[in-house]
Amino acid sequence: MKDLLRTADLSRADVDLLLDTAAQFAQNPLRSKDALANRTVAIYMTKPSTRTRLASESAVAHLGGTPIFLRGDDLQIGRGETIADTARVISGFCSAMLIRTFAQSDVDELGLHASIPVINGLTDVDHPTQLLADWATIREVFGTDIAGRKFTYVGDGNNMAHAWLAMGAILGAHVVVSTPTGKWAPDNDAIATARKIADSTGATIEVDHDPENAAKGSSVLYTDVWMSMGDPENERAEKLKALAPYQVNGHLMGLAEKDAIFMHCLPAHRGEEVTADVIDGARSHIWREAFHRRTTIQSIMYHLVRGELKGR
Ligand code: CP
Ligand code: NVA
Repeated sequence: MKDLLRTADLSRADVDLLLDTAAQFAQNPLRSKDALANRTVAIYMTKPSTRTRLASESAVAHLGGTPIFLRGDDLQIGRGETIADTARVISGFCSAMLIRTFAQSDVDELGLHASIPVINGLTDVDHPTQLLADWATIREVFGTDIAGRKFTYVGDGNNMAHAWLAMGAILGAHVVVSTPTGKWAPDNDAIATARKIADSTGATIEVDHDPENAAKGSSVLYTDVWMSMGDPENERAEKLKALAPYQVNGHLMGLAEKDAIFMHCLPAHRGEEVTADVIDGARSHIWREAFHRRTTIQSIMYHLVRGELKGR
């Protein structure tokens, strides 16, 4: 596996390897401080980012390399240079690249034409690096024996919901995604992919529209913003109304398991998808989750550059 383009591309063995190494990078950030010595990694983003950018630049630095951050309009792509040509040029200078953008097809095309590893740092339909940080956090809390546990995402059926389904499927977990029906439900493709993976891993994939039912007995309640980057502003009022019953609040947390934790990829909008008492409360693990963005991206870069991921 040359690239990490989609969450669903990872095998169980890949995820285990990535999370084991991330745990080591959590203990000792500099344990592979020469892995990228005298090398560069491009980080190209056409959408804003706080965590993914900071985590990626820090990860490259901890591996001994130099990050080169490129904003969307820094490159000639905006003036018509093709993705294929850009991929070839970046491959001539850098040892890997991470890209955050809108269309998944642009990331796939970069992967196709780049000779170096390409990492998806978020698209409209997926967010693989986030899910590794999420499961690094979940494993610290619950360990690897997750039989009988339920892992629930409540909210918009967006990139995070898709990635949640795919990673849960790979890990053989019981995952639930609870969203409104219709426009803000997860894409059928993402559900089908997760169900297909689940056939071979024994995962249970539930797509639900009743947040209380979904929350009941969950070990994790996860949510994400209701308005994602690039979502049409003219749909805001309609969307927030449809999502209102999916807010993670004290009532919903009360339906979860006694030892349940709250998670959120961030950025958060207190009073929309989550109440302040929950996200800032004792059961919230958001800061450890954000911390693991660096450990996991460092692990992804380390293993991809060494050609050690096999894919599914
Ligand atoms: N969770 C996440 O991807 O955050 P940023 O948008 O700040 O990178
Ligand atoms: N769904 C959100 C995730 C941000 C990390 C977005 O795409 O904006």
